[in-house]
Amino acid sequence: MSNNNRKILVTSALPYANGAIHLGHMLEYIQTDIWVRFQKQRGHNCTYVCADDAHGTPIMLKADQLGISPQQLIDQSSEEHQRDFKAFMVGFDNFYSTHSEENREFSSMIYNRLRNAGHIAKKTITQAYDPEKKMFLPDRFVKGDCPKCNEKDQYGDSCEKCGATYSPTELKNAYSAISGAKPIEKESEHYFFKLGNFEQFLRQWVDTHVQEQMKNKLNEWFDSGLHDWDISRDAPYWGFEIPDAPGKYFYVWLDAPVGYMASFKNWCDKNDTDFDEYWKADSSTELYHFIGKDIAYFHSLFWPAMLEGAGLRKPNGVFCHGFVTVEGKKMSKSRGTFVMAETYLKHLRPEYLRYYYAAKLNSGIDDIDLNLEDFRLRVNADLVNKVINIASRCAGFIKKKFDGQLSAKLSEPALFQAAADKGVQIAEYYENREFGKAMREIMAIADQANQYIDNAEPWVLAKQEGKEQQVQDCCSMGINLFRVICAYLAPVLPQVAEDAQQFLNVDNFDWDQIGQPLLDHKINKFKPLMQRVEEAKVNAIIVDSKQNMQVVQQASKAPTKTPLQQQPIAETIEFADFAKVDLRIVKIINAEHVKGADKLLRLTLDLDGETRNVFAGIKSAYKPEELVGKHTVMVANLATRTMKFGDSEGMVLAAGPGGEDIWILEPHTGAKPGMRVS
Ligand code: MSP
Ligand code: ZN
Repeated sequence: MSNNNRKILVTSALPYANGAIHLGHMLEYIQTDIWVRFQKQRGHNCTYVCADDAHGTPIMLKADQLGISPQQLIDQSSEEHQRDFKAFMVGFDNFYSTHSEENREFSSMIYNRLRNAGHIAKKTITQAYDPEKKMFLPDRFVKGDCPKCNEKDQYGDSCEKCGATYSPTELKNAYSAISGAKPIEKESEHYFFKLGNFEQFLRQWVDTHVQEQMKNKLNEWFDSGLHDWDISRDAPYWGFEIPDAPGKYFYVWLDAPVGYMASFKNWCDKNDTDFDEYWKADSSTELYHFIGKDIAYFHSLFWPAMLEGAGLRKPNGVFCHGFVTVEGKKMSKSRGTFVMAETYLKHLRPEYLRYYYAAKLNSGIDDIDLNLEDFRLRVNADLVNKVINIASRCAGFIKKKFDGQLSAKLSEPALFQAAADKGVQIAEYYENREFGKAMREIMAIADQANQYIDNAEPWVLAKQEGKEQQVQDCCSMGINLFRVICAYLAPVLPQVAEDAQQFLNVDNFDWDQIGQPLLDHKINKFKPLMQRVEEAKVNAIIVDSKQNMQVVQQASKAPTKTPLQQQPIAETIEFADFAKVDLRIVKIINAEHVKGADKLLRLTLDLDGETRNVFAGIKSAYKPEELVGKHTVMVANLATRTMKFGDSEGMVLAAGPGGEDIWILEPHTGAKPGMRVS
């Protein structure tokens, strides 16, 4: 093997310590873990580190809300995150925290070096300040009416309705999302990292260290100019105080990537490894960061520039991946597709998902869709029907008839050799993160193995006199192909690989040994290595995820008499569909009982001159006389429905759990009949 025994340090992005790990996150950790396991299987010295990203305002506020200290919150998250990662077989060599002494030291060191080299500037800026909470408010914590379209309750950086972007000071009727107080504007001195100083360096570095698709994005960023980056925050802030600036803290994104170094240092100290060999400017070791495309700016611009400015090594590659969608859409809590790692694991084994992600991953940054039906069919077809089947077709004969002994020679050496030779291509695919292509190559070998067994028909031979040797030979051949396939799949399916080793009676799947067949070798009893994915279990994950979400929702709301969210949210409609609904203010000019109907009232609605007859199922909640003169909202363009009691020409909007508790919508004064509701 060329460049044998590389020294490689690999990281995945550090998950925030204020949320649970979900299947979107898992794409990244599975992708990285597969790559790392592959490198180790190749015999390289590969170390995989990660940590929780433990600082920042959201973590401080969440701890506050829960009535615990930030330290307690991050300890709790760390435990849960590590539990989930372990269950998904993500084999970090070290999982640490950015809230560590190592990280404080490195962050300060890097900052000091940047400052001494003239890369830090101080500027006074004006920011929204919560006078009650006595803290500066990050953009996301200021809310108010959109300055462009007046939509209420928009965040301080952008409007979800019209898409406008602005600064929090432009919001109308602004309020603090923390205390509700009206924010004031306040000045404060901030520290900035002068990213522009690194433009030359970055343009060159980016050219050879990021994916093609990312380069385009980065070029856009270069074209729009590299601005100074605000790296300080004022107290109260949960993070590290800046060494020469009391009361000022490093912004969480300053110390987060430094957390990679800190976690590695922590590992080095426990494993007698020379940290500096890996991080000195001219290091010959390799460093790779796996990240999602949302955090590319930090990893492809800020981070290499910080390292350059501090005289440290730069990454050899920043590997960006796309986002997980479920059934073609963004993961959604209400649809039950925002699936926590923990929820998935209650129902299905982790390797199904590891395989599915592997089969869909490539080296690009396109989103990856988790289609539940495709997931189940694919895993069953490939892993259960193809791969595991090879062993189950052959193992019984070897065990029963030959006491577990494999033949002394291969019956089809060329077929075995072809499978072994594919290892070169498969390794190249793994190395280049073309996992989908690697899986297809491997499945092609499994197809050939099954065809071989189909043709050899050991179950027929076994019934014939004097064909013992042929039975042993063809089943041994099948088992040898199975071994090659399992070895190729080992980075993706660590548990299957371990169980297969136990069955094959071997102690490793080292890559450079794959081409050595097992001859005259005794194997162990075969136990099924994997069950089929059942549709009911997949469905249960979605149901559970919806329920989780209701629990969260109810916990965060005032208690209600009846659970409101018992029905799942209906299928998503596009804005264009919604826009077709013409909602109008109407005045109820008459209301009366309907003979023979026990739920309905007949309403006569005034739509600014035009009157409509509408039946509404609100009898249990309103006396007719209470309604007359009130304004409400109707769907004015609903097709007329002919009912037993007459035509209903539209619908009024009401809400409530039922019985006495139904409320028609009553717009504020100022609403005039005929007015459009938007
Ligand atoms: N804390 C930062 C990273 C700091 S790295 C120095 C962060 N944390 S995160 O928890 O929001 O995300 C962790 C990783 O998971 C990121 O790389 C992010 O892109 C990835 N993903 C989060 N949701 C995802 C999907 N739905 N799909 C794929 N990856 C996703 O960002
Ligand atoms: Zn707007």
